[in-house]
Amino acid sequence: MAGEMNKWILMVTTRAPTNIAVIKYWGKRDEKLILPINDSISVTLDLNHLSATTTVAVSPSFEEDRMWLNGKEIPLSGGRYQNCLREIRSRAGDFKDEKRGIHIKKEDWCKLHFHIASYNNFPTAAGLASSAAGFACLVFSLAKLMNVNDDLSQLSAIARQGSGSACRSLYGGFVKWAMGNDLNGSDSVAIQLARETHWSDLVIIIAVVSSRQKETSSTTGMRESVETSTLLQHRAQVLVPGRILQMEDAIRNRDFSSFARLTCVDSNQFHAICLDTNPPIFYMNDTSHKLINLVERWNRHEGTPQVAYTFDAGPNAVMIAKDQKAATHLLQRLLFYFPPPPENEMSSYVLGDKTILQEAG
Ligand code: DP6
Repeated sequence: MAGEMNKWILMVTTRAPTNIAVIKYWGKRDEKLILPINDSISVTLDLNHLSATTTVAVSPSFEEDRMWLNGKEIPLSGGRYQNCLREIRSRAGDFKDEKRGIHIKKEDWCKLHFHIASYNNFPTAAGLASSAAGFACLVFSLAKLMNVNDDLSQLSAIARQGSGSACRSLYGGFVKWAMGNDLNGSDSVAIQLARETHWSDLVIIIAVVSSRQKETSSTTGMRESVETSTLLQHRAQVLVPGRILQMEDAIRNRDFSSFARLTCVDSNQFHAICLDTNPPIFYMNDTSHKLINLVERWNRHEGTPQVAYTFDAGPNAVMIAKDQKAATHLLQRLLFYFPPPPENEMSSYVLGDKTILQEAG
């Protein structure tokens, strides 16, 4: 390694959005490599809303790898960060900055330590896929810093080892995570199904029912489901393969009725699996159920779906409206059923006692 020792620091900052699964990933066949038991499909939100911003820095003066999440230092001992770091390090390229006299040979990256600072602009671990944005951003930043030449699909296989759903956040638009067949996970990667601009009529509205940390993490929840739920096996092996094909068609044809039906059915079935887990896992709460009722009644009244809903491992509702008109009506309905206290502002306000609403797309 050339250059004046300890005098330099290299930094890269990137931002990655979160993604919301419309056909859920729930269950692993390999816990270490994070290989799923079924394909999943998601929509990536736009960068201005729910996203993670991560700065990675490297310097010969750093004595250990350290990480801060939302300003608080967290231990890096967990295997997932180390797995991502190791994978990126093994693909690193040479770095040369003639002006400053810095030359890092690819084999030297493993002798250097990293400092990582990451911020989420939304509640962490409240079922809004914060780990998806976080690991996608971490892997992308590290790859940029270390001059990794891999394409996004190869990077997605690394982000997957941080958190399964993270692999889908490497792409915008509609994304499929193919479960793959290889034992080493090389074909368990994200594939972009359609670009961001493909279906721009859709409006995503997120009702944050609770910003509290969830009681059962996705990782623990899906492990318990794999061990105890028979419904999970049926869903993964029999139902999801057909549903994936139908969802791909619905997205390709911008067929909102099919898209909404499949999204709601899959979300409800995922939560049915949580109930079928022993002991049962309750991610949704009464407010979540009220939101489902509101959308179901309205869709039935209209005769054709106006809004789809989906819930991840938490009580917060992600609602996807057919177009701006449906989104406006949905907001009016939400306001009617969950009137905000007067002192709050329109863009981020409290519904009822504990519900914050944000427009996210
Ligand atoms: C319900 O990706 O958070 O959001 O791979 O263990 O980190 P790990 O789990 P994670 O699980 C996300 C589950 C989900 C559905 C989905 O995003 O597909």
